[in-house]
Amino acid sequence: MGKLDGRVAIVTGGGRGIGKAIAIALAAEGARVAVNYNTSNSHAEEVVNEINAAWRDRSESQGGSDTSAEHAVAIKADVSKSDEARQLIRSVHERWGRLDVLVNNAGITRDKSIRKMTDDDWLEVIQTNLNAVFFCTTAAMQPMIEQKYGRIISISSMNGQTAAFGQANYGASKGGIISFTKTIALELAKFNITANAIAPGFTLTDMLSKVPEAVQDQIKSKIPLGRFGLPEEIAKAVIFLAADADYITGAQINVNGGAYM
Ligand SMILES: NC(=O)c1ccc[n+]([C@@H]2O[C@H](COP(=O)([O-])OP(=O)(O)OC[C@H]3O[C@@H](n4cnc5c(N)ncnc54)[C@H](OP(=O)(O)O)[C@@H]3O)[C@@H](O)[C@H]2O)c1
Repeated sequence: MGKLDGRVAIVTGGGRGIGKAIAIALAAEGARVAVNYNTSNSHAEEVVNEINAAWRDRSESQGGSDTSAEHAVAIKADVSKSDEARQLIRSVHERWGRLDVLVNNAGITRDKSIRKMTDDDWLEVIQTNLNAVFFCTTAAMQPMIEQKYGRIISISSMNGQTAAFGQANYGASKGGIISFTKTIALELAKFNITANAIAPGFTLTDMLSKVPEAVQDQIKSKIPLGRFGLPEEIAKAVIFLAADADYITGAQINVNGGAYM
């Protein structure tokens, strides 16, 4: 028995990094998971194959008949485009008949000091990291309202809470997620929909690997727990919010090794 048996979840940007760990963790708790990707087709298919294989193994070991059931699917959508984001949500609802958990995870960086930042650097980050959260959430809330149940979990960042050089665009998008989350938590509570944000610190993914090694060492030396986070450690907080946190809404959970308190 998983904590999310019978639930249906979508993870935007679920093919790589933190999103991949979240998709696998949700499935391990029993949810059916739609793994959204934009460019990482093969990575997303690998995640889906891993989830479906784990489900077949589990079903066989329990002598069940669920060996051919589909527990995960990869769906291409550029969530920064409202029509693609909304179609993603619609297609999952049509496929599995409900939608319980939305994880707004997709995100990008285009770091530059404000003196060098172009309009495109600004707009691309806001469109992908913040506007996409609006598109996906407003599409997902419709079936959630009808069900009188929903868990909206958005991946913000420590750098939406505190200043980070070169991240005016990223910090604005991630701070925006926290404010957006509080307002929708207030407005959707009466439908038994909770909305929460997770603010990861520096986490070992492709995104962090773009930071020069010398800078990484400097950053690490200031983290109280003395190391970077793992994607699986962010996923644990998502599972908590999705499965156990019935009375938590409008909150932000820091998963940052103490780097920002
Ligand atoms: N790593 C960190 O240190 C850290 C810290 C704080 C917060 N975060 C946040 O955590 C989330 C995941 O980051 P990560 O470290 O896992 O990054 P990552 O390894 O660079 O992966 C980014 C993910 O976002 C997806 N994505 C980007 N643009 C998209 C779009 N337009 N439509 C759909 N998917 C899109 C990518 O999908 P494709 O590959 O298919 O394009 C990929 O799956 C992001 O929101 C990030 O801001 C990360």
